[in-house]
Amino acid sequence: MRWIGLFAFSFLFAQEWMIIVHGGAGNLRPEHLTPTLQATVESALKEALEKGGAILAQGGSALDAVTEAVCVLEDHPFFNAGKGAVLNENGEVEMDASIMEGRTLRAGAVASVQHVKNPIRLARIVMEKTPHVLMVGQGAEELALKYNLPLKEQHYFYTPERLKQYQQRFSSLNTETVGAVAVDRYGNVAAATSTGGLFLKMNGRVGDSPIIGAGTYADNQCGAISATGHGEYFIRTAAAFFVCMLLKQGLSPEQAADSVLNTIKHLGGEGGFIVITPKKHYAMRMNTSAMFRGIMSSTTPPKVWIFKEK
Ligand code: GLY
Repeated sequence: MRWIGLFAFSFLFAQEWMIIVHGGAGNLRPEHLTPTLQATVESALKEALEKGGAILAQGGSALDAVTEAVCVLEDHPFFNAGKGAVLNENGEVEMDASIMEGRTLRAGAVASVQHVKNPIRLARIVMEKTPHVLMVGQGAEELALKYNLPLKEQHYFYTPERLKQYQQRFSSLNTETVGAVAVDRYGNVAAATSTGGLFLKMNGRVGDSPIIGAGTYADNQCGAISATGHGEYFIRTAAAFFVCMLLKQGLSPEQAADSVLNTIKHLGGEGGFIVITPKKHYAMRMNTSAMFRGIMSSTTPPKVWIFKEK
């Protein structure tokens, strides 16, 4: 009887899944967000969670879940990824993205693409269809063409807010990079990150989001991590890999994320992480006042937050 109970328990445990998304971190204050904008952002985060969650609930992979969740955020004009990406010093978008699978340590990434509607799908094609990990610019876009990914003119990516921001050269919260981490029913983790990078960045600048180990990392031995923030600091600290190594040493997701964020803060950088482990331990941490973020699991409906909890 005891064994039947144990078997039933492990079967149920194996059915559990979880997904976390972020839409960027920054020093936002409540007065910066109108109720309408707050509702719009919260509903986009929930939509991304529900898209990824539906895949996981049907027994789909963590890899599919993070891909589709990030696509929802890339298509939403509020976030700094895909449509709505920030403009560089030339007034153009240059987008970066990466994806990683924890079971195999396969990874794919693209940088400085200017016409790919969903850069995260192209990152996945790099991972699955080429012998490479990171492709940039024109070569990456030729790959998108080969695999029939939708390509768009630059004006598709522009939003009235981004054009105004560029004309007036004002920067509010401009690190609304997006990302997702998930663990599926089989205990496999995956991570995905996508961004337009930094507002007014130099033409050709690449941030942490497409750098495996900086903005994104996933390993079934420890967990999956997606970062947001000032990319140069996340590259210099190999931030996502660093979090993963601390998890391996036995730190909790919260301790691991805070430890790396403290290092980044000492260097002068700001941002945040979402972290998930194969055992569904997780953290959503930032060293800023806000991070757009949310979680959904087999046992919890979508829940989203913007500001740091006291
Ligand atoms: N974290 C996004 C970037 O710095 O490009």
